[in-house]
Amino acid sequence: MCGIVGAVAQRDVAAILLEGLHRLEYRGYDSAGMAVINGEGPIPFVKRVGKVEALAQALDTHPLPGKTGIAHTRWATHGQPSEDNAHPHFSGSLALVHNGIIENHSELKQRLEALGYEFVSQTDTETIVHLVHHYYQLQRDLLSAVRHAVKDLDGAYGLAAIHADQPDRLVCARKGSPLVIGVGIGENFVASDHLALRQVTDRFVYLEEGDIAEVTLGHYRIWNEAGESVTRDLTQIDAAAESIDKGPYRHFMLKEIYEQPKMIERSLLQRLGKTKVLAEALGPHAAPLLASVSSVQIVACGTSYHAGMIAKYWIEGIAGVPCRVEVASEFRYRKFKVQENTLLVTISQSGETADTLAALRLAKTLGYSASLTICNVAQSSLVRESDLFVMTEAGPEIGVASTKAFTTQLVALLLFTVALGRHHDIDEATEANIVKALHGLPRLLSETLDLDADIRAMSKAFAEKHHALFLGRGVQWPVAMEGALKLKEISYIHAESYPAGELKHGPLALVDSDMPVIAVAPNDELLEKLKSNLQEVQARGGQLFVFADKAAGFKESKGLDIIELPHVDDIIAPIIYTIPLQLLSYHVAILKGTDVDQPRNLAKSVTVE
Ligand code: G6P
Repeated sequence: MCGIVGAVAQRDVAAILLEGLHRLEYRGYDSAGMAVINGEGPIPFVKRVGKVEALAQALDTHPLPGKTGIAHTRWATHGQPSEDNAHPHFSGSLALVHNGIIENHSELKQRLEALGYEFVSQTDTETIVHLVHHYYQLQRDLLSAVRHAVKDLDGAYGLAAIHADQPDRLVCARKGSPLVIGVGIGENFVASDHLALRQVTDRFVYLEEGDIAEVTLGHYRIWNEAGESVTRDLTQIDAAAESIDKGPYRHFMLKEIYEQPKMIERSLLQRLGKTKVLAEALGPHAAPLLASVSSVQIVACGTSYHAGMIAKYWIEGIAGVPCRVEVASEFRYRKFKVQENTLLVTISQSGETADTLAALRLAKTLGYSASLTICNVAQSSLVRESDLFVMTEAGPEIGVASTKAFTTQLVALLLFTVALGRHHDIDEATEANIVKALHGLPRLLSETLDLDADIRAMSKAFAEKHHALFLGRGVQWPVAMEGALKLKEISYIHAESYPAGELKHGPLALVDSDMPVIAVAPNDELLEKLKSNLQEVQARGGQLFVFADKAAGFKESKGLDIIELPHVDDIIAPIIYTIPLQLLSYHVAILKGTDVDQPRNLAKSVTVE
């Protein structure tokens, strides 16, 4: 969500901070700001509404020299995008940036106003900076001022503060919002995501919940919530595995769509034998934990939730284990009974989504037997706080609309299905079939990507449309849901998805010659049922666009456009049929001229509720 970068160095830090903001910008932001200490008194700053580039241009004419600074990109929650609301926020000689939401900000504001503080923004963050200032007046020490202030906060925060009277020093704290220290040589940094600091270091220390840290030129010190001095592991990150440029592609999203065969191949490496999923696939602790699992609860948000919906068909249909799937924001506020021996599975690209993380923490208090996360970020909170994890190995995903993270999640979920099913309904022959299909997956994905030109041609029919309906049956219904989500996210066309059998119970009323209907039609046992549903659309003059198996027997005709996909095994069909839907929404977005990688109002990683 919002992005934080901070630096204490022996050189000017503005360029480092700006590069960090650029690297975080893919998450989707609406304003940015920077403050750098340059002598005593109020800290000089620059803020701009819009993209980081607007801040960069402003810094050309208003440079910020100095060796200790903080910067922020904001995604508006409290108060619209404006310079007043953009971070850093200030109180006297103190500057502060914050991610998260402070729930008791109204009470704090009243308390601070009574003490004489004047507020200039509509943000919850401004209460924190005045609160720290208040304690600083009493303590004259930034670290203890922050330590006192965070005790008064209810809600989530990742924050970093600097004070002009204590240069060469930065104090940061986290609770509910990620924060990492980047360890340099004679200089140190902080950020909400290590990607922001890749240009200056490859060594990182991830703060844990409740931690407060002091970062200076030569060292950093960390205290836990109880105020005890603690050490946290230093992680070295392999630079080669983390390239984040677009290469020859026009957008990150397109690059990430095309990376799927390679990333899936990578995610299968050392996990697949000839006919078996290797024991190492889910880590050494998986087998004993999975042996006693008798049901599964999946919790996730957005695209990751759709991966969970698909996995439900596999876990129940192939492994023979009851499975429920719920969006995290509902799960965490609902009352229900937890069955004995239920495994909680979270799915998340970022591993930091606030609702999913809260669901995991809640589940730990509710009697789930264990937790497993399917995640793309090894250092994330979900990975650190779950009993088991399966990394998706998709590499950094930059486009806000998730593509390669989704298909690698599906691969990980299939591996999980097999590992779990071994203790239930999966026999050797079924496992061998799944493994065979997985071995062939990268090649089939590449063949499917070869359909790009046809899909681009098809996309023209959508450019002027305002609505679209996506249909699928069985395991292809969540594939249709994901297709609809992709289209609405990046082209802003209203798109809905339905299990095709539900068509006649309502959505058929919407069908006319203006309503494109997209269907995913592999040659599976529901094909004939789907065909009847599609005839209902044709009979009402609807315009049909069908992605179908070569052998499915569809014939192009007026009002029926077909794109034929290679024949694939049912088990991997959801992964394959996702590809044309990703390409379709990409090309429609290009025709509509929208911001493909950073669609309006959306953020890549939603670390607030
Ligand atoms: C945001 C992103 C989506 C993503 C969802 C869940 O809404 O824009 O692409 O699917 O968060 O994120 P996660 O990181 O938990 O998968």
